[in-house]
Amino acid sequence: MKIIILTLFPEMFTALGASIMGRAQKAGKLEIEVVDIRSYTEDKHQKCDDYPFGGGAGMVMMAQPIGSAIEAVDPNHKARRIYLSPKGRRLDQEHVIALAEEETLVLLCGHYEGVDQRAIDLFIDEELSIGDYVLTGGELPAMVLTDCVARYIDGVLSPASLVDESFSDGLLEYPQYTRPVEYRGLTVPEVLRSGNHAEIDRWRHEQALALTRKHRPDLLK
Ligand SMILES: C[S@@+](CC[C@H](N)C(=O)[O-])C[C@H]1O[C@@H](n2cnc3c(N)ncnc32)[C@H](O)[C@@H]1O
Repeated sequence: MKIIILTLFPEMFTALGASIMGRAQKAGKLEIEVVDIRSYTEDKHQKCDDYPFGGGAGMVMMAQPIGSAIEAVDPNHKARRIYLSPKGRRLDQEHVIALAEEETLVLLCGHYEGVDQRAIDLFIDEELSIGDYVLTGGELPAMVLTDCVARYIDGVLSPASLVDESFSDGLLEYPQYTRPVEYRGLTVPEVLRSGNHAEIDRWRHEQALALTRKHRPDLLK
C-alpha cells in the first residue's frame, strides 16, 4: 500500500520511520511519500494561505497549491483522497479495515483555520476526523490514520495480534499482565497463571465485558 501525505510541515513525519511503521516500510509492505504543498504554490512569495473572506480569526490554506499538489501526485484520480478534518466523519475500526483494502491513499493535512472549501469540493473523496476535539493541524491525524491502517496490511503484524483486541469483537480488550508476578503489592490474577485455557478465556471475556460496560457502554448497544 502507498500513502501520500500532503502537508505544509513535512518535517513532522520523521516519527513514521520508527518502530513497526519503520519496519513495514523497510520490508516494502508500506510506502509513505510526504509531499510539501508549498512546492506547488504559484505565488511568487511561496504563499500558501490567506485571510478568510467574510472576516474572522486566522488564515485559510489556499485551494491552488493543494489542487496542484493533488493533481501532481494522483493525476488520474486512482487513489482515495482523504482530508483530515474535525468536520469529517469520525474514524472507527471498521472504516480503518476498509481503507486498508485501498492501493493508494492521499491524505491532505490542513493547518491554521483549515482549507479553502473549493479544494475539498474539487479534489477530496472523504473527510475524516480522529475525534471530537480540534488539533492545530492535520499532521498528527494523518499519522494516526497511517498507523492504524498499516496494521491491517498483510505482513505488517502477525495475524494473531489483530484478533482479541479492543473493537475486534465489539468489546474493549481484557487487562494484560507480564512479569513479575508481584509488583508493589499487586499480583497477577491467579487464573492467568493456572494454565487452564478454558478458564482463562472465560475470565478474559468477563473482564472485557465489565471494562466495556464501565468505559464504553455505547459499544454494548
Ligand atoms: C485548527 S484546525 C481547523 C479547525 C476548523 N477551523 C474547525 O473549526 O473545524 C486545523 C487543521 O487541523 C486538522 N484537524 C484538527 N482537528 C482534527 C481532528 N479532530 N481530526 C482530523 N483533523 C483535524 C485539520 O486538517 C484542520 O484543517
